[in-house]
Amino acid sequence: MLITFEGVDGAGKSTQTALTAAVLRQRGYDVLVTREPGGTRLSEEIRRLLLDPRFSEMAGSTEALLYASARSQLVREVILPALEAGRIVLCDRFVDSSLAYQGYGRGIGLDLLYTVNAFALADLGPFFTILFDLASEQGLERSETRESDRLEQESASFHQRVRDGYLALALAAPERIRVVDGSGTPEEVQTRVWVQLPAFLEGREQGAPFAAPGPGR
Ligand code: TYD
Repeated sequence: MLITFEGVDGAGKSTQTALTAAVLRQRGYDVLVTREPGGTRLSEEIRRLLLDPRFSEMAGSTEALLYASARSQLVREVILPALEAGRIVLCDRFVDSSLAYQGYGRGIGLDLLYTVNAFALADLGPFFTILFDLASEQGLERSETRESDRLEQESASFHQRVRDGYLALALAAPERIRVVDGSGTPEEVQTRVWVQLPAFLEGREQGAPFAAPGPGR
């Protein structure tokens, strides 16, 4: 089973991914934690290019393809083998980040992104997603302590579009994407995660394979 964690910058995904993995391991699950962009030797190199503020000239199309390239490698090298071995994979960001940031943020057509990412995802099966929702300015405040990367340097309106985009994606796929309030302490947020997770773990919910929603969406 693959469970992905999504949200605006500073929404608390990374903390929650780690906390969730610890609880799952205590309960006896074999868990693999990874992140995007990154998680393999090659994908971490692509990450470096993507986040480097010196590459301010990067075209949106280049950006979308680089994220998809990093993903393609991670899926084939790490995620698919782990799933085949029966492990639970937790991924800090995944394909919904591309739909939210490159789609809603940069204005690249969702249809194009679905096509490129369907190629990147190969025959990856259904997966589940927890979306940590937080006002984008609150998220950026939380991550202010470290130097900001190329994406974090984008305008406030860009980050607002990303947040709204995530919520639109969740509305369009309510059985796969669960929205969790990202405000409050890590412990409070983790409690909310566990309201959603059992339905996935017990197979009561059906994730959907990655596919573009029907026309009109
Ligand atoms: P991440 O390391 O999760 O940043 P943070 O921990 O600060 O949230 O992700 C790096 C940046 O890459 C983040 O700003 C979101 C962006 N991103 C995309 O724009 N598209 C994508 O497909 C992915 C995976 C990330």
